[in-house]
Amino acid sequence: MRILGVDIGGSSIKGGPVDLSRGELTAPRLSLPTPIPATPQAVADRVAEISRHFQWQGVIGCGVPAVVRNGTTWTAANIDRGWIGFDVGQLLATTTRCKVTVLNDADAAGLAEMKFGNGCGQSGTVLMITLGTGLGSALFRDGRLIPNTELGHLLINDDVAERYASAAVKQQQQLSYQAWAGRLDRYLQRLNELLWPDLLILGGEISREHDQFLPLLTVSTRVVPALLGNDAGIIGAALAAAAG
Ligand code: BGC
Repeated sequence: MRILGVDIGGSSIKGGPVDLSRGELTAPRLSLPTPIPATPQAVADRVAEISRHFQWQGVIGCGVPAVVRNGTTWTAANIDRGWIGFDVGQLLATTTRCKVTVLNDADAAGLAEMKFGNGCGQSGTVLMITLGTGLGSALFRDGRLIPNTELGHLLINDDVAERYASAAVKQQQQLSYQAWAGRLDRYLQRLNELLWPDLLILGGEISREHDQFLPLLTVSTRVVPALLGNDAGIIGAALAAAAG
């Protein structure tokens, strides 16, 4: 079974057809810049462009950087405020003329890692953190997702954690891996004090360069990089759509 997975991020919107039995893309993904301003309609137009590119007529799963309940988004940290209280599921279905399932982007990435990646078969508490424009979180207990955790918004030094330790902050402030890993470590230690996960998975594009920063972390919980890298969000969105 194939479903089109789409991952809407703060800087790019990526998508591709996903083979659900193998957890792999069946064609090279298409990545488009996130429109500025990232209004729901402007973003929906990009998703429709991705769908047209793959001549898609089936089901679409879409990860968005916001809290999602029944297709409606309730936060907008790195997107236009027009998303708050907006039925984005309905808009995407109308714009693409496909059946669309919408969920939080980090939850999508976590679902993929739990099924096909480094969380596979892991029981207990698993916490995936996506390192991108923001900090996303996906929390699992014995393989079951507890959706819409917003742990990138914990306060550190009286500031929101994602403005202190995200991959975007590393780039904007031109932090060395050493300096950024110190911040990330502090954030992970805070998460550890609060949740005591059995495993931490770090995702996002920067996780491909894990050799540069994983060895610098001192947090006591086991930390692994996401196996599926930046495709996790696309694959997980497709998995969520398959589940209904
Ligand atoms: C949003 C989350 C999202 C994360 C990663 C945060 O700013 O609040 O919902 O998962 O960014 O995109």
